[in-house]
Amino acid sequence: MKIRNDKRRIGIFGFGCVGQGLYDIIQANPQYGLEVASICVKTRNKQRSLPASAFSYDPNQLLHDESIDIFAELISDADEALTIVRHLLKAGKTVVSANKKMVAENLSELLQLQQQYGGVLLYEAAVCGSIPIVRLLDSYFGAEPLKQVSGVLNGSSNYILSKLYYEGISYQEALAQAQALGFAEADPTLDVQGNDALNKLCIVAAHAFGQVVHPEEVLCFGMQHIHAEDVALAQAIGAKIKLVASAQQAAGQQLRLQVLPAFVLSGNELFTVDAEFNGVQVEAEFAGTQFLKGRGAGSHPTGSAVWADVAAALSGFRYSYSKKQTATAGRGETEVVNLYIRAAEAALLENLPLQEVLSLTDATHQVQVICSISVSELRKHQEVIEKAGIFVASLPIGLNKEELLAASTERYLSFV
Ligand SMILES: NC(=O)c1ccc[n+]([C@@H]2O[C@H](COP(=O)([O-])OP(=O)(O)OC[C@H]3O[C@@H](n4cnc5c(N)ncnc54)[C@H](OP(=O)(O)O)[C@@H]3O)[C@@H](O)[C@H]2O)c1
Repeated sequence: MKIRNDKRRIGIFGFGCVGQGLYDIIQANPQYGLEVASICVKTRNKQRSLPASAFSYDPNQLLHDESIDIFAELISDADEALTIVRHLLKAGKTVVSANKKMVAENLSELLQLQQQYGGVLLYEAAVCGSIPIVRLLDSYFGAEPLKQVSGVLNGSSNYILSKLYYEGISYQEALAQAQALGFAEADPTLDVQGNDALNKLCIVAAHAFGQVVHPEEVLCFGMQHIHAEDVALAQAIGAKIKLVASAQQAAGQQLRLQVLPAFVLSGNELFTVDAEFNGVQVEAEFAGTQFLKGRGAGSHPTGSAVWADVAAALSGFRYSYSKKQTATAGRGETEVVNLYIRAAEAALLENLPLQEVLSLTDATHQVQVICSISVSELRKHQEVIEKAGIFVASLPIGLNKEELLAASTERYLSFV
């Protein structure tokens, strides 16, 4: 966006954490000549930092205001967000959104609407807040084949996992602390069960590999069943457990997408992503591996990503989705995943088609094993696994199984 004398007008939907952040950044940068036309919110009787005249309560007022050059959709309701964005794209307008759920679940339609009506949708803030990963993948790496994009994409679950690792407190204690500090929602389900990271991963997959995949099609396990014993075992081999989302070009040109708790060894950059931070690794065919770390949420960090999109869109930028034409079919369901599993009792694992099972302990109160299982079988048995409170985590390639076994035996012996 150039410094300008003439004004351009933005209509904003939502004035919560992100809406306020964007507003502050617009006010701090008057040289760019962006004027807030109006802000549409939901609740009439709510105390706000701006006078009542700044707000409207009817989305139609903004949607039909022809003086507005660009829109920011920053509301918390994904269904209503879709209605708003759909309407704007059908009118050929330019809109910036932070709503990962809305984008990930409707990407096919949103692409088609842009193509049909000529509108523009940008959504950098939807993936890892302030980290400019979508534009990096779409623009810079738009012409280079990628091998893998993986990351810690959810700050709430990472905050909890860091607390478990550094302070040895329980999952429930860490969750309560995260909620008290505003790093986790009152209802943390979407974060701890992996859905938030999954939505971001699906957006990443579209730009990095050209495949538009609905979140429901992807293997996704959360970290909510983690126990101090899992953390201690990881520590014993110098690893941390992180919730890792990855998109990988697998054998036979298949794309393998998954969100799983994972043992991350200290040599991996994701090991350094602690607390509420996000981190993404991009492995490109010619550029090699690159790593970005930053704030994945928060008013100003996320507002900054929205602001960057607004500036880019006003300068004529739109995503290229350049890999879409060359996208390959198939998503690696036949692939095998190497897992660490902990269950309260052996009987819970009896009906699971686990292969190459190696028991880590002969303790009778709970069972820890490492094993392998195909992605399709894991998905098929997911409900049973979740209901039984079984914790699963993927094991890194190159992990020394003997070392893990020795570490677990040592831990077990220290208790008997
Ligand atoms: N918070 C973050 O750090 C972060 C990071 C990345 C992405 N995001 C995404 O950004 C979006 C906004 O998140 P947030 O944290 O700013 O949410 P928030 O603090 O809960 O604020 C939500 C805002 O949306 C408004 N709203 C809700 N339903 C509406 C409707 N039907 N019509 C008009 N306005 C409506 C609310 O109005 P009232 O003020 O009247 O209640 C409120 O102003 C979400 O999609 C979220 O996933 C957030």
